[in-house]
Amino acid sequence: MPRYAYVNGRYQPHSRATVHIEDRGYQFADGVYEVVPVSHGRLVDEDLHLDRLERSLSELRIDMPMSRRSLKLVSAELMRRNRLSNGFLYMQVTRGVAPRDHKFPKQAVPAVVMTTRQTKPAKREAIEAGVGVIAIPDIRWKRRDIKSVSLLPNCLGKQQAFEAGAYEAWMVDDEGFVTEGTSTNAWIITKDKRLITRPATDDILNGITRISLIRTAESLGISVEERPFTLAEAKDAKEAFITSSSNFVMPVVRIDETAIGNGRAGELTLRLRDGYEAAVVRGEELAAQ
Ligand code: PDD
Repeated sequence: MPRYAYVNGRYQPHSRATVHIEDRGYQFADGVYEVVPVSHGRLVDEDLHLDRLERSLSELRIDMPMSRRSLKLVSAELMRRNRLSNGFLYMQVTRGVAPRDHKFPKQAVPAVVMTTRQTKPAKREAIEAGVGVIAIPDIRWKRRDIKSVSLLPNCLGKQQAFEAGAYEAWMVDDEGFVTEGTSTNAWIITKDKRLITRPATDDILNGITRISLIRTAESLGISVEERPFTLAEAKDAKEAFITSSSNFVMPVVRIDETAIGNGRAGELTLRLRDGYEAAVVRGEELAAQ
């Protein structure tokens, strides 16, 4: 079955889908993106992702490439053509094609690309085993709240983690506080059972999984403390985990050489993951009605 990509108004075979060499996304990383999880054939938190897309675009003064309704129709059609049941929808919008010049072009038409990827849901054993992270300095720009395609520091960090045998790198700011992972938000649970994650300022990307998990935690009667935490505090934590559209809630069992808790997924972390997954299923049921 051929896999399709959506590129500027056309559904093209994925293997032959191309954009122009003077697309400003390619030359200047002048664009934004979203990764929307797909579970049982449905987009998870689609409106929250589209809210963030609109916000990222407006911060960069790029027009929405089409109405929200049209974006939803194209997403649904691409998922249908690719028979996507579990995985992701990737959506990218750039300022468009123009002769190379740092200033914004006068009349740019935003360029939009969508692709999908089918993946298998993570196995319970893998979740219970958890993952390791390493700590690295945060060398990114100061507007990390914008979901820009400019991800070079993130790629360098993820590669460094991979080469160190870890799954993710947690980036640490100049004051010693953890900002976030290279493609995930960072959370800890202290020994006195306080659930902590960094507040959503310009310093981090406000993850959609992060937003949803705060709601899940509250519905489970677990309060969330939104404040920066240091790397030392993280290493001393009882539990730790990361969240993202591609991981949902993934336990962290090692930071650098330090084991977290007993070196296996924490109990509260697993409760939160189960609660999050139940909320995803409830969302699907509501959407189906
Ligand atoms: N990454 N922080 C960063 C720097 C991210 O790139 C991401 C997402 C997150 C988590 O956001 P969300 O819960 O909305 O996925 C936090 C995506 C998955 C990626 O780049 O592939």
